[in-house]
Amino acid sequence: MSQKFPEHFLWGGAVAAHQLEGAYREGGRGLSTADVMTAGSAKQPRIITDGVLAGYVYPNHQGIDFYHRYREDIALFREMGFKCFRTSISWSRIFPNGDEEEPNEEGLQFYDRLFDELLANGIQPVVTLSHFEIPYHLVKTYGGFRSRKLIGFFLHYAETVFTRYRDKVKYWILFNEINNQTDTSRPIFAFTNSGILFEEGENREQVVWQAIHHELVAGAMAVKRGHEINPDFKIGCMVAWVPIYPETCHPADMLAEVDRMHDRYFFTDVYVRGHYPGYADSMMKKKGVFIRMEEGDAEILSEGTVDYISLSYYMSSVVSHLEDTDSNERGFTGSVDNPYLKYSDWGWAIDPEGLRYTLDTLTERYEKPIFIAENGFGAYDKLDEKGEHSYAVDDSYRINYLQEHIRAVKEAITEDGADVFGFTIWGCIDVVSFTTGELSKRYGMIYVDIDDAGCGTLARSRKKSFYWYQNVIRTNGEEV
Ligand code: BG6
Repeated sequence: MSQKFPEHFLWGGAVAAHQLEGAYREGGRGLSTADVMTAGSAKQPRIITDGVLAGYVYPNHQGIDFYHRYREDIALFREMGFKCFRTSISWSRIFPNGDEEEPNEEGLQFYDRLFDELLANGIQPVVTLSHFEIPYHLVKTYGGFRSRKLIGFFLHYAETVFTRYRDKVKYWILFNEINNQTDTSRPIFAFTNSGILFEEGENREQVVWQAIHHELVAGAMAVKRGHEINPDFKIGCMVAWVPIYPETCHPADMLAEVDRMHDRYFFTDVYVRGHYPGYADSMMKKKGVFIRMEEGDAEILSEGTVDYISLSYYMSSVVSHLEDTDSNERGFTGSVDNPYLKYSDWGWAIDPEGLRYTLDTLTERYEKPIFIAENGFGAYDKLDEKGEHSYAVDDSYRINYLQEHIRAVKEAITEDGADVFGFTIWGCIDVVSFTTGELSKRYGMIYVDIDDAGCGTLARSRKKSFYWYQNVIRTNGEEV
């Protein structure tokens, strides 16, 4: 087994269209779900408004103005040595309403220019089809992915971009973090994953899992069609991977862990194996859910399995069988603190070994290539206003976090046999935070001069981590 990262390892950074492009009404773009989400904070959840309303701040409207500044940003990515750049296509740039026959040529041309610029700089685009946004019209008219009609709209969109960028993009990702919405206690997830607005008194689990089924079918159809359009395409799924540890070796804790992990494995099981897993029936029964399938769905799922697994990894979690059903300390029922780990300012457990554990367990289960589509550290950065350093921000805490996680990836590859082919740092340039809508929750190695109210010059500058990552890539992970 080699002791190094693979030769053509895809080092890079990751973002999503709605979190950085801005220009939300330019180039014929239609409103997307991200455009009706207000700014929030660690304590104040974002609000989903009924359309764009006066008197609210909508941070995604401006993003960091990547739409106009992508050339400058790509030059910085190149300087860091990026081999790849993961972004998403904003569906409503291509189909402003989502249900049109004909795509918006201006929207297509924007991504032509973007992908051309990346390729000219030696950077492979890795493209997510739906990263937490769908055209808002699909929410208002069809109820989002509640409706089976969305399968057709998504497939038409996927076919359109697969065909258009056939020779520019090789790596595709279906739905970003499709499993987030299983947490129905936070309606923002159902909205961003599937365009679902819950109605008073309805069974949220039922609604969400039916939408998930539609997305799995749509995704499988897209994989099949994508491979017809270009057999060299590599199309992957994307799951938010938060490994869950049992609080103790009490057998009931072990079983609670197995049960909780089903909310993650369910997705990779279907995507990779092409059918609902054996535990799905009892899992749905426990949730009080009945998934309506149509004739032919099983066949579609079996014909559209993914080429690789991609995942985001930020933290791990712990479950206890003792916690009563009301306890939701760390994000889900029965979740408790991990006394062995430190937590970020937003309460995310910092656990590099959890990433190695994740890669090992996924490798054991599937023996599939893995792409780490997101890993990173959100923090309040302090600008070096006195000009004491040659960089804009001393973000040594971010470097520490990334160092430890990259080392964990290396160990999973070199010691445990995981087939990992890429690693993209989330928010490689500061972007709008998804959960809070803040701009002050920064992940970037490139600082953007903009505050939570959207004020600032938008100027870009290099943080300390910029130079650190440059060296990681230059040495292909030998010097971390
Ligand atoms: C992932 C998402 O959940 O985590 C990104 O795919 C998101 O869109 C990232 O930005 C970090 O979360 P946040 O809320 O800190 O921006």
